[in-house]
Amino acid sequence: MEVSGKTKVFCVIGNPIEHSLSPIMHNAAFRHLNIDAVYVAFKVEEEALEDAVRGMRSLGICGMNVTMPHKTAIVKYLDETDPAAKLVGAVNTVLNANGKLVGFNTDGVGALRALEENYVKPRDKKFLLLGAGGAGRAIAFQLAQEADELVILNRDADKARVLADALRKRFNKKVVGESLLHNVLKNWIKDADVLINATSVGMHPHQNETLVEKSLLRPELTVMDIVYDPIETRLLKDAKSVGAKVIYGTEMLVFQGAASFEIWLNRPAPVNIMRKAIVERLQARGLSLER
Ligand code: ATR
Repeated sequence: MEVSGKTKVFCVIGNPIEHSLSPIMHNAAFRHLNIDAVYVAFKVEEEALEDAVRGMRSLGICGMNVTMPHKTAIVKYLDETDPAAKLVGAVNTVLNANGKLVGFNTDGVGALRALEENYVKPRDKKFLLLGAGGAGRAIAFQLAQEADELVILNRDADKARVLADALRKRFNKKVVGESLLHNVLKNWIKDADVLINATSVGMHPHQNETLVEKSLLRPELTVMDIVYDPIETRLLKDAKSVGAKVIYGTEMLVFQGAASFEIWLNRPAPVNIMRKAIVERLQARGLSLER
């Protein structure tokens, strides 16, 4: 598709941003559907965030993804935020609705769809979620509505407790928040149906790290990791080797991107095309030394 005077512009802002996979994923989707749009990445320093949001308004940028370090700070510059983004306190998607900027958080729905598309139905299941950072909170918000039971463990235990209290009050479900200590993890993992790592542990260049020792994993457990670089983390390798079902971090990446796409364009995202584009890029990166 030729870029012309009518081409719509979408973007991601963050810092650093050069390695973002969002341009690859969304441009592949635009090309596949013959949509006259481009998706670009902008490096935005913290002190330039307000100007960047003003720029989105003045230039008529149709949609924006927001990543580190702006996910929380951007909220105050938007006209509205949806309930998930409000509770999570972080926005990863902005829609420009005829000049009104609306913030969303698609990490939670992305994780939920990653589970469902991989045949894991959250209803009647017990979830053990590691991490109460931005992504962890977004995932917890969705799971608290869908699952039978949710246990959130975080290194900083207070964050897990505060989050669990807020979700318990709001959704009237069993939600527990505790410290991510070995014995605590060992206790809760016994009864869990699904384990989700929503921390950054295991990410390149620390790909040998895991929060869960292999002896605690079992075949009946489903294990999902939000880390996607490397595609197969140490946690997922260990889970696979004991016969557990695994869901890769690329799934959450694809479905949170698909949810953004659907908010902006109001039509189904071509998830297989998006997945193929990012997996190919990650595999190429894995083979090259330069990242
Ligand atoms: P994101 O938006 O990707 O979730 P974040 O908000 O910085 O990023 O959250 C990172 C998560 O990884 C947090 O849950 C963090 O735990 P703390 O809240 O205690 O900092 C978790 N995390 C990072 N490194 C960790 C480590 N070495 N061990 C355990 N948890 C870790």
